[in-house]
Amino acid sequence: MSKFNSQLPKIMLKMNKVKYGKGLKLVGWPFIFRFSQASLEIGEDCAINSNFLSNLIGLYQRTIIIARDKGTVRIGSHVGISGSTLYARELIEVGDYSVIGANCKIFDNDFHSLNPEERKADIYDHLVTRPVKIGKNVFIGCNCIILKGTVIGDNCIIGAGSVVHGTFESGSVIAGNPAKVIKKTGGQIQEGNVEL
Ligand SMILES: CC(C)(COP(=O)(O)OP(=O)(O)OC[C@H]1O[C@@H](n2cnc3c(N)ncnc32)[C@H](O)[C@@H]1OP(=O)(O)O)[C@@H](O)C(=O)NCCC(=O)NCCS
Repeated sequence: MSKFNSQLPKIMLKMNKVKYGKGLKLVGWPFIFRFSQASLEIGEDCAINSNFLSNLIGLYQRTIIIARDKGTVRIGSHVGISGSTLYARELIEVGDYSVIGANCKIFDNDFHSLNPEERKADIYDHLVTRPVKIGKNVFIGCNCIILKGTVIGDNCIIGAGSVVHGTFESGSVIAGNPAKVIKKTGGQIQEGNVEL
Protein backbone atom coordinates (compact mmCIF):
# COMPACT_ATOMS: atom_id res chain seq x y z
CA MET A 1 0.00 0.00 0.00
CA SER A 2 1.41 3.44 -0.90
CA LYS A 3 2.02 5.95 1.87
CA PHE A 4 -0.88 8.05 0.56
CA ASN A 5 -3.26 5.08 0.56
CA SER A 6 -2.24 4.14 4.09
CA GLN A 7 -3.08 7.69 5.21
CA LEU A 8 -6.46 7.71 3.45
CA PRO A 9 -8.44 6.11 6.29
CA LYS A 10 -7.14 8.80 8.68
CA ILE A 11 -7.98 11.55 6.20
CA MET A 12 -11.53 10.15 6.07
CA LEU A 13 -11.70 10.22 9.89
CA LYS A 14 -10.61 13.86 9.94
CA MET A 15 -13.16 14.82 7.27
CA ASN A 16 -15.86 13.09 9.33
CA LYS A 17 -14.76 14.96 12.49
CA VAL A 18 -13.87 11.80 14.33
CA LYS A 19 -11.46 12.73 17.13
CA TYR A 20 -8.47 10.47 17.56
CA GLY A 21 -5.29 10.69 19.57
CA LYS A 22 -1.68 10.29 18.49
CA GLY A 23 -0.31 6.86 17.65
CA LEU A 24 -3.51 5.46 16.11
CA LYS A 25 -2.54 2.32 14.18
CA LEU A 26 -4.94 1.20 11.49
CA VAL A 27 -4.22 -2.09 9.75
CA GLY A 28 -6.58 -2.40 6.79
CA TRP A 29 -9.42 -0.01 6.15
CA PRO A 30 -12.03 0.21 8.92
CA PHE A 31 -15.45 1.74 8.46
CA ILE A 32 -15.67 4.39 11.18
CA PHE A 33 -18.51 6.86 10.81
CA ARG A 34 -19.99 9.65 12.89
CA PHE A 35 -23.47 10.90 12.01
CA SER A 36 -23.75 14.70 12.09
CA GLN A 37 -25.18 15.03 15.62
CA ALA A 38 -23.15 12.21 17.11
CA SER A 39 -19.72 12.13 18.70
CA LEU A 40 -16.91 9.64 18.16
CA GLU A 41 -13.61 9.76 20.05
CA ILE A 42 -10.64 7.42 20.02
CA GLY A 43 -7.81 7.94 22.52
CA GLU A 44 -4.06 7.65 22.08
CA ASP A 45 -2.06 4.66 20.86
CA CYS A 46 -5.04 2.56 19.81
CA ALA A 47 -4.75 -0.25 17.26
CA ILE A 48 -7.64 -1.18 14.97
CA ASN A 49 -7.36 -4.24 12.73
CA SER A 50 -9.50 -4.66 9.65
CA ASN A 51 -7.70 -7.09 7.34
CA PHE A 52 -8.38 -10.83 7.33
CA LEU A 53 -4.83 -11.61 8.46
CA SER A 54 -4.19 -8.51 10.55
CA ASN A 55 -5.05 -10.75 13.50
CA LEU A 56 -4.13 -14.38 12.86
CA ILE A 57 -7.33 -15.51 14.56
CA GLY A 58 -8.81 -14.59 11.14
CA LEU A 59 -11.16 -11.63 10.90
CA TYR A 60 -14.54 -12.13 9.26
CA GLN A 61 -15.07 -8.41 8.77
CA ARG A 62 -13.47 -5.00 8.89
CA THR A 63 -13.85 -3.07 12.12
CA ILE A 64 -17.02 -0.98 11.97
CA ILE A 65 -17.57 1.82 14.50
CA ILE A 66 -20.74 3.88 14.18
CA ALA A 67 -21.99 6.80 16.29
CA ARG A 68 -25.53 7.45 15.16
CA ASP A 69 -28.33 9.89 16.05
CA LYS A 70 -27.08 11.88 19.06
CA GLY A 71 -25.02 8.94 20.23
CA THR A 72 -21.46 8.82 21.52
CA VAL A 73 -18.71 6.29 21.05
CA ARG A 74 -15.84 6.98 23.43
CA ILE A 75 -12.82 4.70 23.16
CA GLY A 76 -9.99 5.24 25.63
CA SER A 77 -6.25 5.03 25.05
CA HIS A 78 -4.18 1.89 24.31
CA VAL A 79 -7.31 0.02 23.17
CA GLY A 80 -7.09 -2.79 20.60
CA ILE A 81 -9.98 -3.77 18.33
CA SER A 82 -9.94 -6.59 15.77
CA GLY A 83 -12.60 -6.95 13.10
CA SER A 84 -15.44 -5.95 15.41
CA THR A 85 -18.53 -3.76 15.30
CA LEU A 86 -19.40 -1.04 17.84
CA TYR A 87 -22.71 0.63 17.02
CA ALA A 88 -24.06 3.37 19.33
CA ARG A 89 -27.24 5.39 19.17
CA GLU A 90 -26.78 6.54 22.78
CA LEU A 91 -23.43 5.59 24.34
CA ILE A 92 -20.71 3.00 24.07
CA GLU A 93 -17.61 3.57 26.24
CA VAL A 94 -14.47 1.45 26.20
CA GLY A 95 -11.87 2.09 28.91
CA ASP A 96 -8.10 2.39 28.50
CA TYR A 97 -6.08 -0.77 27.79
CA SER A 98 -9.11 -2.86 26.88
CA VAL A 99 -8.84 -5.37 24.03
CA ILE A 100 -11.76 -6.39 21.87
CA GLY A 101 -11.03 -9.77 20.26
CA ALA A 102 -11.80 -10.83 16.75
CA ASN A 103 -15.33 -10.65 15.33
CA CYS A 104 -17.19 -9.15 18.31
CA LYS A 105 -20.44 -7.14 18.14
CA ILE A 106 -21.20 -4.42 20.68
CA PHE A 107 -24.57 -2.66 20.43
CA ASP A 108 -26.45 -0.19 22.65
CA ASN A 109 -29.75 -0.77 20.81
CA ASP A 110 -31.66 -3.53 19.05
CA PHE A 111 -31.86 -1.97 15.55
CA HIS A 112 -35.53 -3.00 15.19
CA SER A 113 -38.57 -2.09 17.27
CA LEU A 114 -39.54 -4.62 19.93
CA ASN A 115 -43.17 -3.75 19.27
CA PRO A 116 -44.57 -6.19 16.66
CA GLU A 117 -46.80 -3.63 14.92
CA GLU A 118 -44.06 -1.00 14.66
CA ARG A 119 -41.61 -3.60 13.38
CA LYS A 120 -44.01 -4.75 10.68
CA ALA A 121 -44.56 -1.14 9.64
CA ASP A 122 -40.82 -0.38 9.57
CA ILE A 123 -41.17 2.28 12.27
CA TYR A 124 -37.91 3.07 14.00
CA ASP A 125 -39.04 6.04 16.15
CA HIS A 126 -39.10 4.22 19.49
CA LEU A 127 -35.95 2.14 19.41
CA VAL A 128 -34.86 1.24 22.91
CA THR A 129 -31.28 2.29 23.67
CA ARG A 130 -29.26 1.67 26.84
CA PRO A 131 -25.63 2.70 27.33
CA VAL A 132 -22.88 0.10 27.20
CA LYS A 133 -19.90 0.73 29.48
CA ILE A 134 -16.78 -1.38 29.25
CA GLY A 135 -14.19 -0.59 31.92
CA LYS A 136 -10.42 -0.39 31.79
CA ASN A 137 -8.18 -3.32 30.89
CA VAL A 138 -11.08 -5.57 29.92
CA PHE A 139 -10.19 -8.55 27.72
CA ILE A 140 -13.06 -9.52 25.43
CA GLY A 141 -12.49 -12.90 23.76
CA CYS A 142 -13.28 -13.51 20.12
CA ASN A 143 -16.82 -13.75 18.71
CA CYS A 144 -18.61 -12.16 21.67
CA ILE A 145 -21.87 -10.25 21.48
CA ILE A 146 -22.36 -7.49 24.05
CA LEU A 147 -25.92 -6.26 24.27
CA LYS A 148 -27.52 -2.94 25.22
CA GLY A 149 -27.33 -1.86 28.85
CA THR A 150 -24.29 -3.98 29.67
CA VAL A 151 -21.78 -2.60 32.18
CA ILE A 152 -18.49 -4.44 32.54
CA GLY A 153 -16.16 -3.41 35.36
CA ASP A 154 -12.39 -2.97 35.09
CA ASN A 155 -10.08 -5.94 34.56
CA CYS A 156 -12.88 -8.31 33.53
CA ILE A 157 -12.36 -11.13 31.05
CA ILE A 158 -15.14 -12.17 28.70
CA GLY A 159 -14.83 -15.74 27.43
CA ALA A 160 -14.80 -16.47 23.71
CA GLY A 161 -18.22 -16.69 22.10
CA SER A 162 -20.12 -15.18 25.02
CA VAL A 163 -23.44 -13.38 24.73
CA VAL A 164 -23.25 -10.71 27.43
CA HIS A 165 -26.04 -8.77 29.09
CA GLY A 166 -26.10 -7.22 32.56
CA THR A 167 -23.79 -5.60 35.06
CA PHE A 168 -20.57 -7.28 36.09
CA GLU A 169 -18.22 -6.31 38.92
CA SER A 170 -14.60 -5.45 38.29
CA GLY A 171 -12.30 -8.44 38.07
CA SER A 172 -14.92 -10.97 36.95
CA VAL A 173 -14.35 -13.72 34.42
CA ILE A 174 -17.60 -13.99 32.48
CA ALA A 175 -18.52 -16.62 29.91
CA GLY A 176 -21.32 -18.44 28.14
CA ASN A 177 -24.74 -17.68 26.73
CA PRO A 178 -26.20 -15.97 28.62
CA ALA A 179 -22.84 -15.00 30.08
CA LYS A 180 -22.39 -15.61 33.82
CA VAL A 181 -19.51 -14.97 36.18
CA ILE A 182 -17.45 -18.17 36.23
CA LYS A 183 -14.71 -16.88 38.54
CA LYS A 184 -12.72 -13.84 39.59
CA THR A 185 -9.48 -12.78 37.91
CA GLY A 186 -6.30 -13.34 39.88
CA GLY A 187 -4.87 -9.93 39.07
CA GLN A 188 -4.91 -6.93 41.30
CA ILE A 189 -8.02 -4.81 40.90
CA GLN A 190 -7.31 -1.17 40.17
CA GLU A 191 -9.48 1.85 40.88
CA GLY A 192 -12.14 1.91 38.21
CA ASN A 193 -13.65 4.36 35.80
CA VAL A 194 -16.90 2.41 35.79
CA GLU A 195 -19.33 2.92 38.63
CA LEU A 196 -21.11 -0.28 39.59
C1 LIG B 1 -12.61 -17.21 29.60
C2 LIG B 1 -11.22 -17.83 29.55
C3 LIG B 1 -10.17 -16.71 29.64
C4 LIG B 1 -11.12 -18.73 30.79
O1 LIG B 1 -9.86 -19.33 30.83
P1 LIG B 1 -9.38 -20.09 32.17
O2 LIG B 1 -9.34 -19.09 33.28
O3 LIG B 1 -8.12 -20.79 31.88
O4 LIG B 1 -10.58 -21.06 32.52
P2 LIG B 1 -10.75 -22.63 32.26
O5 LIG B 1 -10.27 -23.00 30.89
O6 LIG B 1 -10.12 -23.32 33.42
O7 LIG B 1 -12.33 -22.80 32.31
C5 LIG B 1 -13.05 -22.60 33.53
C6 LIG B 1 -14.49 -22.99 33.31
O8 LIG B 1 -15.11 -22.00 32.45
C7 LIG B 1 -15.65 -22.62 31.29
N1 LIG B 1 -15.36 -21.73 30.15
C8 LIG B 1 -14.17 -21.23 29.80
N2 LIG B 1 -14.26 -20.44 28.72
C9 LIG B 1 -15.57 -20.45 28.37
C10 LIG B 1 -16.29 -19.84 27.33
N3 LIG B 1 -15.66 -19.04 26.43
N4 LIG B 1 -17.61 -20.04 27.25
C11 LIG B 1 -18.24 -20.83 28.17
N5 LIG B 1 -17.62 -21.44 29.18
C12 LIG B 1 -16.28 -21.27 29.28
C13 LIG B 1 -14.92 -23.93 31.15
O9 LIG B 1 -15.72 -24.86 30.45
C14 LIG B 1 -14.69 -24.32 32.60
O10 LIG B 1 -15.90 -24.88 33.11
P3 LIG B 1 -15.83 -26.09 34.19
O11 LIG B 1 -15.12 -25.52 35.38
O12 LIG B 1 -17.29 -26.39 34.43
O13 LIG B 1 -15.08 -27.17 33.53
C15 LIG B 1 -10.95 -18.61 28.24
O14 LIG B 1 -11.65 -19.86 28.24
C16 LIG B 1 -11.38 -17.85 26.99
O15 LIG B 1 -12.53 -17.86 26.54
N6 LIG B 1 -10.39 -17.12 26.41
C17 LIG B 1 -10.62 -16.19 25.31
C18 LIG B 1 -9.71 -16.54 24.12
C19 LIG B 1 -9.90 -15.53 23.03
O16 LIG B 1 -10.97 -15.40 22.49
N7 LIG B 1 -8.81 -14.78 22.73
C20 LIG B 1 -8.90 -13.62 21.84
C21 LIG B 1 -8.76 -13.93 20.41
S1 LIG B 1 -8.90 -12.49 19.41
